[in-house]
Amino acid sequence: MKILVTGGLGFIGSHTVVELQNQGFEVVIVDNLSNTSLNVLDGIANITGINTAFENLDLREKEKVQDFFKRHRDISGVIHFAASKAVGESVGNPLLYYENNLNTLIYLLQELQQQPESNFIFSSSCTVYGQAEKIPITEDASIQTAMSPYGNTKQIGEEIITDTAKVTNTNAILLRYFNPIGAHPTAEIGELPIGVPQNLVPFITQTGLGLRQELSVYGDDYPTPDGTAVRDYIHVVDLAKAHVIALKRLLDKKNLAKVETFNLGTGTGSSVLEVICAFEKVSGQKLPYKIVGRREGDVTSAYANTDKANNVLGWKAESTLEQAMESAWKWEQKIRS
Ligand code: WQD
Repeated sequence: MKILVTGGLGFIGSHTVVELQNQGFEVVIVDNLSNTSLNVLDGIANITGINTAFENLDLREKEKVQDFFKRHRDISGVIHFAASKAVGESVGNPLLYYENNLNTLIYLLQELQQQPESNFIFSSSCTVYGQAEKIPITEDASIQTAMSPYGNTKQIGEEIITDTAKVTNTNAILLRYFNPIGAHPTAEIGELPIGVPQNLVPFITQTGLGLRQELSVYGDDYPTPDGTAVRDYIHVVDLAKAHVIALKRLLDKKNLAKVETFNLGTGTGSSVLEVICAFEKVSGQKLPYKIVGRREGDVTSAYANTDKANNVLGWKAESTLEQAMESAWKWEQKIRS
């Protein structure tokens, strides 16, 4: 079975390609290399021994998307990662986000209508919940008004898919990620933030290596046990495995509805200070940090109720926060060596 993975050279995409190949799927990756590097293909090959078919394709170019599907008439499923994902950037450049995250989705779905079957896995985000009223968060929690154009593109993307599935042959699973962290245990692939990392864990590992002077902790006056914000940090390999399970669910036609939604998290909340502590434990070194003001747009707490993913999807995250931090640290040291 041939599976198209868009954004397959990205952080979560590359780990998912590895897990797909571990399960015997044939993969074709499209990526426009705007936020990654071709070296990731080598990393994947070093893990699986497979030189993955790759096409440098910008999904914003409709004719090129049409041409791709003319040449690939045997796509059994699509896992769609390709999107811009920096919350802060999206506030300053909304049209880039609406074009890149929505036009591309529309062109993909249009072309899939010509394929023998249309099984679609969508990379969504817990961002759609904003600050949920009830924690841990279930899939039927209300969708809050998006706090950024990025978050809005995930909400609108889910609606586009849902409306399309109602009247076409498309079957879809929406996967709402919490906070993906870590790297493949081989340290052959991992997160490659470009510039100053916006996310907590790569900033911690870069600080640990001395690339950053100190970590700024955005606020310690939240109504949480230690005052710092709480998130659900999930190992990227656990997340990748969930995608393969979700895809098989669609391919085996086990889905109970045309569109199903699952929260992908560990079900455990960890504060910023707890993440720092986990890093210090696995690295054996103190992390220099200072407490500063809250970051605009941050929620107090977000972690998943994983009952549906555990019981319906049959998936459960296996790695601990420390194991994820250890893999992130090993990766950081490897790429800077
Ligand atoms: C985590 C916590 C920060 C950096 C983002 C995206 C979301 C999803 C997951 C894609 C927060 C604190 C961070 C720093 C800090 N991605 N922090 N100092 O914001 O929860 O979610 O990743 O779908 O869409 O928004 O992740 O890693 O930026 O922040 O104190 O230098 O760490 O305030 O509490 P976030 P994050």
